[in-house]
Amino acid sequence: MHALSLALLCSFQVRYHAAAAAATQLCGILDQRSALVGDRLYFSSGNYTFNDNLPSHSTSSLYVLPLDKVIDVSGPIPLSELETSPLPSQELAGGMGPISGGAGGTYLFDHTALYAYGGIIGGDANGTENGLWTYNTTNETWGLTIVEGGGLSYGEATEGVWAIDPSQSLSFYTGGWTIAYNNTNNGLVKFDSSDPAKPQWNFVTALSGDMQGPNMLKGSMQFVRKGQAGILVAFGGYNTTQRGTQFGPGWDWDQRPFDEIFVYDIFSNVWYLVEATGDLPPLRTEFCSGVSAAADDSSFQITIHGDQFYTTKLDDTYVLTLPAFEWIKVRVANNPDGGAGRNRHKCSMWQDSQMIVAGGGPEESEYCNMSYPPIKVLDTSNYVWQTHFEPDHEAYSVPGVVRRVIGGSSKGGSTVTSPKRGWKDPALGEIFSHTLARDTYVYPDTPNTSTTGEPASTPTPEPDTQSKTGAIAGGVVGGVVGLALIAAGVWWFLVRPRQRRRSAEGDQDGSSAYRDKPELPSDGATRADELDSRDIVTQLPTKTDTAELEDHRYAAELAAAMQGVQSPVELEAEQNRRVPGRPV
Ligand SMILES: *[C@@H]1O[C@H](CO)[C@@H](O)[C@H](O)[C@H]1NC(C)=O
Ligand SMILES: *[C@@H]1O[C@H](CO)[C@@H](O)[C@H](O)[C@H]1NC(C)=O
Ligand SMILES: *[C@@H]1O[C@H](CO)[C@@H](O)[C@H](O)[C@H]1NC(C)=O
Ligand SMILES: *[C@@H]1O[C@H](CO)[C@@H](O)[C@H](O)[C@H]1NC(C)=O
Ligand SMILES: *[C@@H]1O[C@H](CO)[C@@H](O)[C@H](O)[C@H]1NC(C)=O
Ligand SMILES: *[C@@H]1O[C@H](CO)[C@@H](O)[C@H](O)[C@H]1NC(C)=O
Ligand SMILES: *[C@@H]1O[C@H](CO)[C@@H](O)[C@H](O)[C@H]1NC(C)=O
Ligand SMILES: *[C@@H]1O[C@H](CO)[C@@H](O)[C@H](O)[C@H]1NC(C)=O
Repeated sequence: MHALSLALLCSFQVRYHAAAAAATQLCGILDQRSALVGDRLYFSSGNYTFNDNLPSHSTSSLYVLPLDKVIDVSGPIPLSELETSPLPSQELAGGMGPISGGAGGTYLFDHTALYAYGGIIGGDANGTENGLWTYNTTNETWGLTIVEGGGLSYGEATEGVWAIDPSQSLSFYTGGWTIAYNNTNNGLVKFDSSDPAKPQWNFVTALSGDMQGPNMLKGSMQFVRKGQAGILVAFGGYNTTQRGTQFGPGWDWDQRPFDEIFVYDIFSNVWYLVEATGDLPPLRTEFCSGVSAAADDSSFQITIHGDQFYTTKLDDTYVLTLPAFEWIKVRVANNPDGGAGRNRHKCSMWQDSQMIVAGGGPEESEYCNMSYPPIKVLDTSNYVWQTHFEPDHEAYSVPGVVRRVIGGSSKGGSTVTSPKRGWKDPALGEIFSHTLARDTYVYPDTPNTSTTGEPASTPTPEPDTQSKTGAIAGGVVGGVVGLALIAAGVWWFLVRPRQRRRSAEGDQDGSSAYRDKPELPSDGATRADELDSRDIVTQLPTKTDTAELEDHRYAAELAAAMQGVQSPVELEAEQNRRVPGRPV
């Protein structure tokens, strides 16, 4: 079955390459892995459409969009703007879960390398050996890196939440379908690539507090420079703690209300739950986010965009300002999507001031449509969507709509240092009293290109080394979109039989119907106002329903499970079929 699926993939690739000769533009991206390193946006895996009339399909290419020059993002991206190189393994190509797939996987990364993580089913997703395909961005070479620290390869890990701190060479991943639970404990994959010759990871379980992780599927997580070693801030998506009631039979999980903000202090290894106030975004999944810091670091704005809301993709934008923990609904201008919205996209923040929203979609038929660009750029200082990405864009300034809530000026000076109702746990006050320095790493190949001619075009004389070098990994790639193309609801099992994985590869059923998922009915914006507002929540029961699901599923071959027993994937698809007016 494995051989068969590979053969099918290969023949498809051949067909694609033959036809792609005619393609001159990239029109659509869905479920890609992506990373912003230096002044280059890397992406691969997932599905793509080009102006060659082929349907959306996976490709075996790594794409790089160089961000050292102005890019017209008002329509499809000419392929001449992209650098394209082959992926080292077909299993990274993605787009065809539950066979092999990048859908929902990500790149963990630092200043010099990308590590393809999750979303791989096949020999490369080697839970025992911990091999990660690694792209060295300096010498542009792929290699297979063996990571020390345990069986955390989790090829099937998809649609969790992740956050990257390139300055400490740390990447974090939790939640999703198979991560966060090791049969006894919840936790977080902490990946340390500071020694590229010997990257390490471990499954970190919280040291104190009752909470061990957010159990979050299709939410979003960001690294923020607070605390002594940084914090992770996670929100949205589904709460996979236990089965809920929001969707009725067929879809187990409730969506998380946006007043629940999970904060992980890296230094002390403790999770907190902070209650946010303000214009709480309607419940959503498959959105993405990016962080902008005030010039003086007095506030950090996390901008979120897009979502899936039942069968509707919204194109709204909200901002969570920290440390006020206040949500602000933002009026944007010039959104190119014309109200169509998007989901399963990825956000990358360029030097705090331009949020690059790559991919996502409404319907495939709408790709290659001048009014629905594959990549769009939001100016996070004024919330105007740009027609062009500009590497030397004006430095970030705190938007007026945010200043009305937190005070200060466009350069910072916010006087709000805590949530409206204060810190429920004094430890949080202590954490938020520390701010880490900006990342000042200078990429070896960028200083000369970015210093020449830039001073003249940088209008704001902000003492911001970041915008001067043009070479900072300001982008913490965030956002969680994409689709579990795999055994849904299967919690990680320490030693997964390869045989089982192979049967998953061979299973082509269940994938096509899965592309569209049910979301909240529009009348269902029922935020649980009464939700517990303690800073530290009580931990979920150790034995979750998902664990039970795992037990159940583990007894059967995965392929059989996918076809016979109703997996969440199928149930999700089935629920989708029940949506009135939904074309099936
Ligand atoms: C993604 O591409 C694969 C082929 O490469 C195709 O089977 C699948 O249906 C596509 N999914 C979407 C959502 O376009
Ligand atoms: C997977 O494990 C086998 C040994 O069990 C090893 O030979 C192979 O190289 C590993 N593959 C990867 C991608 O790590
Ligand atoms: C590129 O770097 C990798 C280590 O990441 C190394 O193994 C490889 O030999 C290098 N290739 C070249 C051509 O320098
Ligand atoms: C799960 O994590 C806990 C806490 O770190 C650890 O004690 C336990 O051994 C782990 N279980 C497995 C199966 O790895
Ligand atoms: C990438 O390659 C360069 C040049 O070969 C090497 O100096 C560097 O250590 C490599 N980086 C990683 C992360 O392997
Ligand atoms: C997650 O959902 C469960 C069940 O609905 C609920 O009891 C729990 O409070 C939720 N957890 C959080 C942190 O919201
Ligand atoms: C392009 O896509 C938008 C958003 O879905 C849609 O409103 C518009 O009709 C499409 N235009 C064309 C020419 O297909
Ligand atoms: C930039 O290039 C010039 C020559 O064009 C060279 O003299 C200088 O050392 C370079 N600077 C850096 C930082 O590489």
